[in-house]
Order: sequence, then structure tokens, then C-alpha cells
Amino acid sequence: MAKARKVYICASCGSVQHRWIGKCPDCGTWDSLEEQTVSKGASADPHEEAKAWTAAIAAPEARPIAEVGADAPPTPRMATGIGELDRVLGGGLVPGSTVLLGGEPGIGKSTLLLQAAGALAGERTPVLYVSSEESAEQVRLRAERLGLDTRAGLLVLSDTNLSRIAEQARKTSPRAIVIDSVQMVYKGDLDAPPGSITQLRRCAGELVALAKASGIALVLVGHVTKDGRLAGPRLLEHLVDAVVNFEGDRAHAHRVVRAVKNRFGATLEIGLFEMTGRGLREAPEGLASPASSSAEPRPGTVACPVMHGSRCLLVEIQALTATGFLGAAKRKASGLDSNRLAVLIAVLEQHAELRLADRDIFTQAVGGVRVAEPAADLALLLAIAGAHLRRALEPASCVIGEVGLAGELRPVGHLEQRLREAARLGYKRAIIPKAGMEPEPVPGIELVRVKDVDGAIQQLG
Ligand code: TYD
Ligand code: MG
Repeated sequence: MAKARKVYICASCGSVQHRWIGKCPDCGTWDSLEEQTVSKGASADPHEEAKAWTAAIAAPEARPIAEVGADAPPTPRMATGIGELDRVLGGGLVPGSTVLLGGEPGIGKSTLLLQAAGALAGERTPVLYVSSEESAEQVRLRAERLGLDTRAGLLVLSDTNLSRIAEQARKTSPRAIVIDSVQMVYKGDLDAPPGSITQLRRCAGELVALAKASGIALVLVGHVTKDGRLAGPRLLEHLVDAVVNFEGDRAHAHRVVRAVKNRFGATLEIGLFEMTGRGLREAPEGLASPASSSAEPRPGTVACPVMHGSRCLLVEIQALTATGFLGAAKRKASGLDSNRLAVLIAVLEQHAELRLADRDIFTQAVGGVRVAEPAADLALLLAIAGAHLRRALEPASCVIGEVGLAGELRPVGHLEQRLREAARLGYKRAIIPKAGMEPEPVPGIELVRVKDVDGAIQQLG
């Protein structure tokens, strides 16, 4: 009989240790090692389920690098027809590749993928949607709610057994498979409970191999808890070709799809959606409603055109200051960089003589996007100053600029594109740094060029 031995697998990064330790030496997570029993001699062929297809593929041979790829066609793509998703994927799903879609429970992963599967499915090109959490009837009800054409090649399977899922894939030869979610899938001959790290690693590995061997595009859904634990998403990240996160605030309708890894495309692009009563609606127009430019100005709220990949979004940055305790004042940044916040508060203290040491300061980027650009410095700084002084900018103003430690304002990239987007959304004035080249005039936008932080604060009425 095969001898059993114990190993410890990190639930966060998947590294294998031979004894239990409190902190994973590879990723530094505390208390993340799980005990697993491995029996020697047990098969661990990651291609087991892919075997039916691998026979068709010739083994690759080594050859001179100059001969590689010269005649290769460009990566084929299957556009899902959901433009905002295709943009993030780099044009669509790549046959034979695996995409991991991560996100908190309830954010809308199943909704997005059912819509994508419905759009991708055709009579001769079926798509297999495997729901390991819901019954086939539940999926059908959702498809109806989403208004999908339920007759055209969308196949639904409610199962969690890997071998049975692979068999259905062989039988139906879909062009794409969605596994919702991979955490629930298990392999019967493994000596580990469903949901464990061993199961997850093995099942995901076999599914990835299956996709590669068959040329089927695979999408795995992975749950992520608030702190990124439990689900072992990082463990999966190494296995797959692309990792796409679905983000947003469940209390709001806005959703952002973002690639954090993409072997076949850039990771700068984001896709914008809005959750409605009938599924996700693409929101290519951005997060700020055109109305926000005409809203009554409020102290502490400043609009800023922010770049995300090739696109510009108008984001409202808000600050609130309240009485705190000297030496223990709170500083909170939600969707913003907390280090930048600390620097900007110091700049306001030193160069604009605002006394903020005993003020609690809360800041946020509205709408669930993360703003990490230095070009948003000045907007954040004016939001804080405006909140503190209870003064607002003129109506329909937006703010662009990086703030230096000496209180000087520095020019930023893509100025013209930002101004055009602001103008399109109805903004009439832009406060920008004096430094840098004179930008091309943009119709409809008056430019207010300021030299330093003091000059910018004077713009607060
Ligand atoms: P779901 O796709 O099930 O999330 P996930 O798979 O990430 O757990 O969607 C969850 C939420 O979305 C749920 O609270 C209901 C809401 N929803 C809508 O608002 N409109 C819709 O058309 C659908 C299908 C869901
Ligand atoms: Mg779901």
C-alpha cells in the first residue's frame, strides 16, 4: 500500500512546506498553512482530463529562435460582444487560454459571465456554462431575467465533479467553458475534501490543461473574500493566462472590470458597467454622469479627469474634515493612495498654512474606481482645503495637476485628452499647472493656470 505523508500547503500562495509554521515563508501570510495528506504513488498527472485531446497535438520541438513565429498567425480572438469586457481581455477570449475572473461574492460575476456566454453562443458554436453553485433551473431563470436568447447554443450544466464536467465538454465540444465557481469543483480520487487547497490546485490545473489541449477558451470564476484569503486566488494566478478582477461597491451600481495579469494583452485597460435590474449594462461613457458638471458646487468635492489605460474618466474626489485629537487624528483614503494623502496634508500645512494636525480627514474617490495617478494630487488637495475652509470651486470646474513637495504644481501627461473629456461632459473651467507647455485650446473649456498650491487655493471662492 502507498505510504501516506503529511505536507502543509499555504492557502494564499500555494507553496508547499514540510512542517507547520505560523507564517508562510513565501508570501508572509500568517496562519495560512493547511495540513494535507499525500499518499505516495497516487497519480498526480495534471493532464488526466485533457488526455482525450492531447493525442491530437504534436509534441513541440526545439528550433532556432529566428525561425520562431515568423509565419505564425496573430493570436485569434473570440469577441464576446460585450465591448467593455473585450477591451479588458485585449479583444476577446483566446482559444485554449484560461481567464480567472475574481471578485467578492455578490458583485456580479455570474451575471457578467452568463451574459458573455449568451452573447458568445451560437447554434453551431455552443458555450458550456457550468454552475457548481446553482441549479440549472436557477441559471435558466437568471438567463430569462437577463433577456438572453435561450435557444441559441447556451448549454447549462450543474455539476461539481471534474471528471463529469470534462466528459460533458468532450461530448458537446463548446467553443468556451465557464466554470462558476472553480472553488466548488472537486476530483473524486483525491484524498482531500472539496474546497480544500489541494482540490483547488489540482482541479484548476487539470482544467487549464484541458483548455490548452482542446483549444476551448476557459473562464474560471474565483471568489475573493474582502481580505483576499480563503479562496486561494493567488495560487490560481500562476496557473492561468489572464486574471481579471471584478470590482465595485455592492452598495452602488458601478462595476469595474480590470485585468491584473494578461498574457495576451495589456493590463492598463478597464471596463465599466452598471448593475441594473436586467443585468449589467455597459457604461463606456464613464462613471461621472454628465449632470455632475452642472451640479451645485460643494466644498470638499472636486472633479478630476483621470487616465485609466487609454481612456479618460471623470472622477469626483471628496474630502471631509472633522474635529479630531492632536496626535491621533484619523486619515482615511478610500480608492486613493494613503501615502499621497499624507504628503498632501503636509504640503497644505507647510505651504498653505492650513492647520490640519488635529483634524480627522476622510477622503474618497466616488464610484468604486481606484485613483493612483499623481495627476489627481491637486484635486485631492483642493478637496481637503475646500472641506476645511468650507469653500468650493466655481460651478463646472475640474482640476488637473501633480503637487510637488515645495508646493509647486507640475505638468501631467495626456492633458489635452483630459480637457476634451471634461469638455464633453459639460465642464467649463479647468484648473491646471502653469508649468509645462501651453496646451492646445479645447473648445468650451476655459483654462485657469496656477503656479503653486497657494494660487490653487485662491480659486476656492
Ligand atoms: P451575481 O452575478 O450572482 O454575483 P456573484 O456571482 O459575483 O456572486 O449577482 C449578484 C447580485 O446582482 C445580486 O445581489 C442580485 C444582483 N442582480 C441585479 O441587480 N440585476 C440582475 O439582473 C441580476 C441577474 C442580479
Ligand atoms: Mg455567482
